[in-house]
Amino acid sequence: MACFTISLFLCYYYRYYSYMKKCLVALVVFIQSFSGHAQTDKQIIIETSRTAMVLTVGNNQRVVQSYLGKKLPASDYEQLKAGREIYLTAGMDNQFEPSIRMIHTDGNPSLELKYSSHHTETSGNISTTIIILKDSVYPVEVLMHYTSYFNEDVIKTWTEIKHKESKPVMLTHYASSLLHFIADEYWLTQFHGDWAREMNLVEEKLTNGIKSIESKLGTRTNFYQTLVFFLSLNKPSTETDGELIAGTLAWTGNFKFSFEVDQRNGLRVHSGINAYASEYYLQPNEIFTTPEFIFTYSANGKGQASRNLHRWARNYAVLDGNAPRMTLLNNWEATHTDFTETRLVELFDEAKKLGVDLFLLDDGWFGNKFPRNDDKAGLGDWQEDKKKLPSGLGYLVKEAEKKGIKFGIWLEPEMVNPKSELYQQHPEWILKLPNREENYGRNQLVLDLINPKVQDFVFSIIDDMMTKDPGIAFIKWDCNRSMTNMYSPYLKEKQTHLFIDYTKALYKVMGRIRAKYPHLPIMLCSGGGGRTDYAALKYFTEFWPSDNTDGLERIYIQWGYSYFFPANTISAHITSMGKQSLKFRTDVAMMGKMGYDIRVNNFTPQELQFSNDAVKNYKRISDVVWFGDLYRLISPYDENRAVLMYVSENKNKAILFNYFTNTRRIDIFSRVLLQGLDPRKKYRINEINLFPGTKSAQPDNDKVFTGEYLMNIGLNLAPGRAAALSSNIFEINEE
Ligand code: DGJ
Repeated sequence: MACFTISLFLCYYYRYYSYMKKCLVALVVFIQSFSGHAQTDKQIIIETSRTAMVLTVGNNQRVVQSYLGKKLPASDYEQLKAGREIYLTAGMDNQFEPSIRMIHTDGNPSLELKYSSHHTETSGNISTTIIILKDSVYPVEVLMHYTSYFNEDVIKTWTEIKHKESKPVMLTHYASSLLHFIADEYWLTQFHGDWAREMNLVEEKLTNGIKSIESKLGTRTNFYQTLVFFLSLNKPSTETDGELIAGTLAWTGNFKFSFEVDQRNGLRVHSGINAYASEYYLQPNEIFTTPEFIFTYSANGKGQASRNLHRWARNYAVLDGNAPRMTLLNNWEATHTDFTETRLVELFDEAKKLGVDLFLLDDGWFGNKFPRNDDKAGLGDWQEDKKKLPSGLGYLVKEAEKKGIKFGIWLEPEMVNPKSELYQQHPEWILKLPNREENYGRNQLVLDLINPKVQDFVFSIIDDMMTKDPGIAFIKWDCNRSMTNMYSPYLKEKQTHLFIDYTKALYKVMGRIRAKYPHLPIMLCSGGGGRTDYAALKYFTEFWPSDNTDGLERIYIQWGYSYFFPANTISAHITSMGKQSLKFRTDVAMMGKMGYDIRVNNFTPQELQFSNDAVKNYKRISDVVWFGDLYRLISPYDENRAVLMYVSENKNKAILFNYFTNTRRIDIFSRVLLQGLDPRKKYRINEINLFPGTKSAQPDNDKVFTGEYLMNIGLNLAPGRAAALSSNIFEINEE
């Protein structure tokens, strides 16, 4: 009996004990998963003027993100030691999307990254912290890089992965960055589109599971999705209110942002190269460097985030970001590929009449055996078409110079038409699958840029041209198709490196071009906005946002890009597309980097006068548009109008743009409150860019107001009624 009682007791005790043990384990797991791992004291702080990121080294030597947000007093960070790992590995305890997954030489698919050391280097405005993480069993190192730009409030993060195993290891995941968030709600703003429909803004609440924004297109990778996002915490943010980050990836190839909301409403944001079909075999001692993920945190809405990114971009990311740009006349919309030398010289006169700085000769000037008379032939044969241009490019450069303008040219160096001498001479230089038919996009194929001989060829297209005709002052670099036929004859058995190596090869070529021609302005174009990223913009001075130049559509497209890119990078041309008045289309182009692509000869005398004045006005105001702070005041997504302004850094000048997007006359009664001015300064308002023979209908025109008044009482920009598709530009000068 006693024995039974004891065994019953033991049995109960055991069951109770194992139940208690289970509970205890569950509790520990719960606490750990909720609060991260138990911590030691070591903290690594990444700071800008308004933002802080706190990383803590746990007593298990794993590094966690304890905080990301508004800068706090340093003593507060000590209270924040829990968190989640900064770079989640696969194969060990992490069951969510990994940041890195590696298959070792012996087939082991796991990685555990522990803190080894860290150091920070600061030089003026820029600090870089490198945290070295190591696996304790395998000779693998991951270097986490965090560079902070103090004044601009921008942080960029990327990693370097290396190992010393005896043979290559395989990487199947290799994120640039992982950020963690804890909030009640997450609101994601993405920008999607298609050809001639770029940058459509959509904002939605994230729900449990993974939402990804990605591209697998190889080239022209932003065709359907631009690689930018806003992530608002707790509620959708406005221009002036709400906590958010704005993020983008400096990469011109396949990309992926994934947003994973877990079972406890924690959010993990991974950013990096899209690893789709891209297992990477990393050689011993080779360094795999992931692209930079760039983000800014704002506690005051999207406007502040954009201004942070614009300043950072001009100062550090875009080639010659703080230098002036040239206004130009492009011939694409006016002539397509149908022109003669004489016609081009006439167009120089039109450029001169407009008063622009440069004439840009677009597609159609090359090819002899296969002349480029449409998009079916000639790509790859970069010699002047002797029929169209018997005197050569040099003659055109000189003729332009005689008329006091510069000359620029269009190229699409990465592509080839099957109907070309290049295709006939070098079939091995082209991406195409063995045993499969060629698949075309715009009748063309992509060159195998990974092949160093192709890189030399592409470099020589620019180098030979510039050597022969050093007067060429501008290049438009186009890329009109995404990849199919995904097979590189050069890579042989390493086909999974194709997407990554192609993008790196592009940078290699651009690096060579920039080493020799450091300041030649080059426009980044990809059948419209298929390439718009900060890795490419290290080599390019501006980008072509869309082939859609309809004034009304352009408001939305340029508005979308303005969230992430400064105005001097957003090419905006006046064309004959769209039913709006020339004034409306001109006013829209003037909010970006203005140019023309139109038959000037068809202008009425008033239209020519208006355009000539507009170019002069633009030259007067462009430094504020290009280098000022942007305030988006009323979004076309919210109302039948779009209102924005740029304010110079010293706040002595501002330019206000007002566009009515309604197609019927409507009443708009509310006043527009300006932003970014000095409340104590006095400003005179002047409407500019008026069409000849018209007067400003603004009752406030040519009047003086304090900044305080303009920002609190504001202006009535629709006196009477808002005429359909009408617009105004106001120059606001300190008195
Ligand atoms: C696509 C570009 O977006 C256009 O501006 C023009 O340059 C054409 N290519 C020329 O083929």
